[in-house]
Amino acid sequence: MSATINLEKKHLPVLLDEIIKIISPRYSGTFLDCTFGQGGYSEKILDNTNNKVIAFDRDSKAIKTSEKLKKKFKERFEFNHKKFSEIQLSDTKKIKAIIFDLGYSTDQVFDSEKGLSFNFKGKLNMRMGLNTFSAHDAINKLHKDDLAKIFKYFGDERDGKKIANSISKKRNKKILSTKDLVEIINKEKKNYNFKVNKSTKVFQSLRIFVNQEISELIYGLINAYKLLPINSYIIVVTFHSIEDKIVKFFFRNYSEEKRVSRYLPSYKNMNKVFELLDKKVISPTEAEIKKNPSSRSAKLRYVKKIKNGANFEEFLLKFKNLLEIEGIGKKLC
Ligand SMILES: C[S@@+](CC[C@H](N)C(=O)[O-])C[C@H]1O[C@@H](n2cnc3c(N)ncnc32)[C@H](O)[C@@H]1O
Repeated sequence: MSATINLEKKHLPVLLDEIIKIISPRYSGTFLDCTFGQGGYSEKILDNTNNKVIAFDRDSKAIKTSEKLKKKFKERFEFNHKKFSEIQLSDTKKIKAIIFDLGYSTDQVFDSEKGLSFNFKGKLNMRMGLNTFSAHDAINKLHKDDLAKIFKYFGDERDGKKIANSISKKRNKKILSTKDLVEIINKEKKNYNFKVNKSTKVFQSLRIFVNQEISELIYGLINAYKLLPINSYIIVVTFHSIEDKIVKFFFRNYSEEKRVSRYLPSYKNMNKVFELLDKKVISPTEAEIKKNPSSRSAKLRYVKKIKNGANFEEFLLKFKNLLEIEGIGKKLC
């Protein structure tokens, strides 16, 4: 998510009206808010007294915000400090929708301890919460070839090799802050596009890698499918092209009739487990972008589950390469 945000620290929920429009005919039930943040979605859903929200967030700072909602909504609200790929629930019958609002909340971007943005001086950290390593570990310990892969595949950074080489030469002096990294990038990188900050791509790739965002999303979606009762929805808001590609593939591939061998007719039906309710992606209105510029890259997609028993092998195979690159993180644990 971009750091050019409203100047207050308050996070403005993105595409909230559109989400409420999708779920409001289905009110009276339990909603899973997998990315609680500052509670914008949860609070709006709980305004309807027939609803219950079970919320999740990996950031321990979300616990404090969740306490305010707990006081206000009592037993209709529950918060869990957990990553969404690890959600387990015993009673799932009343779930009406599972909602993901990916990316970072405004308070996280402004938090200099987290060091998520090149716009703010801070430690080279980038951990959202419940992580096993930091950006400092990655930058100071990984082989330059591994760093170059991360910059290429998660940031589409064409000067990734040069930047990785320079990092590996400089690290005996320790690269400790976001400022240190920005200085290296500025020195190594040509300015191809004056509208985009030179550090954008490297910072995006490190945030994805440190938070293992690809595997979180892939296993989070598969888990959501397993938890969801028939006729309930999965709703996802994404902020960058890799996330959107994953969500689009997951929804479309398992919503469409698949052309497979006539000797395998059952496979075809077995894997058509979603109904794609809106083929087009939903984007913020111009009015929302004006009010909240960081909403500009948001994309909303949603599906209805129509069947159990899906086989997601093809999904995992499609993104195998990205999962393997995230797996480089195991060298740091
Ligand atoms: C864009 S914010 C959500 C904002 C929220 N919808 C609101 O209205 O305030 C994304 C939140 O998701 C959390 N998050 C990101 N990845 C997560 C994961 N894998 N598991 C749990 N929480 C995650 C972040 O810590 C952050 O608080």
